[in-house]
Amino acid sequence: MIKKLSIRQPDDWHVHFREDEMLSVITKHSSRINRRCIAMPNTTIPITTSNQAKNYKSIIEKNSNHKNFEALIPCYITDNLDLHDFSNALKQNLFIGGKLYPVNSTTNSSLGVSDIKKIFKVFEILEKEDKMLLIHGEKVSEDINIFDREKYYIDEDLQIIRKNFQNLKIVLEHVSTAYGVEYIKSNKNIAGTITPHHMLLTKKDVFFDNSINPHHFCMPVVKDEKDLLALRNAACINNTKFFIGTDSAPHHVREKSENLNTKAGIFSAVCSLELYTEIFDEEDSLNTLEQFASINGPNFYNLPKNERIITLEKNSWYPPEFTEEKSIKIKNFFGNKKINWKLL
Ligand code: NCD
Ligand code: ZN
Repeated sequence: MIKKLSIRQPDDWHVHFREDEMLSVITKHSSRINRRCIAMPNTTIPITTSNQAKNYKSIIEKNSNHKNFEALIPCYITDNLDLHDFSNALKQNLFIGGKLYPVNSTTNSSLGVSDIKKIFKVFEILEKEDKMLLIHGEKVSEDINIFDREKYYIDEDLQIIRKNFQNLKIVLEHVSTAYGVEYIKSNKNIAGTITPHHMLLTKKDVFFDNSINPHHFCMPVVKDEKDLLALRNAACINNTKFFIGTDSAPHHVREKSENLNTKAGIFSAVCSLELYTEIFDEEDSLNTLEQFASINGPNFYNLPKNERIITLEKNSWYPPEFTEEKSIKIKNFFGNKKINWKLL
């Protein structure tokens, strides 16, 4: 039985650092593991300009506990971006790409995109600069069931984007369905990030008769067992199109309530790599963890692979139930539950 595993240091291609006190409490958990993180721009005031990106990057890096830790910032795309600033910021690598939130699809997305036709110029610029489009792929509409949002997004909006911008590189973020996995596998210029929680939970862990578990509630919502199995298969079976994106998304416990008005987001940064390792172990795939964690992401983003080697040990531990510091209190995903792997 394998007891120790050494791999290249990973990166997290989708994580939320928030702002102010919350940022100062949580950043060290991601920098404990990763060399680079894509810091999602859906802050209270979204990151839409080059100046904001510069400041946000610098604040995150100051709060990390490693001097070579790097925060990469995508631009929060709105219907009315300053295209001149956007284009220059991409050229100077101040933005790694653009993040498309359909309006009102998730936390802080009220300034998101109301109609993709309004942002064709943004796609054109990204394609020209060979920069990534990151998509929260959910179609939100009263007549679409919450479990079908990803499929509708793919069949409608994503198809249109890909047809019109054939050389645009796209990351379908936090893929949550077997349908999404198949779509990524069978099309070019598109890759996907996979969270630990979408490979560990199904809707039975979230929705009960008259209530929900708010600590398992996230967007996109977790789905059925067949989806969970397809995601595990995509991550573990040596496929170059999938990589880490934890979507670790903290909310203060007071923002969480047992109904659908609760804030969506699961905070996993305290144990994310350990959870991925446990999943790969369960799938008898520890030999492909490095590919998923540390190689596919940089390859797709055209960035160098990390040189440093990190080591995980098979040794059980229990993450604390909460991350509690200053005036912040967040429920940790897998808090008080046994995990069999630990990063040394
Ligand atoms: C994220 C958040 O809270 O910022 N929430 C979530 O449920 N995943 C936003 C997101 O990535 O959708
Ligand atoms: Zn997210």
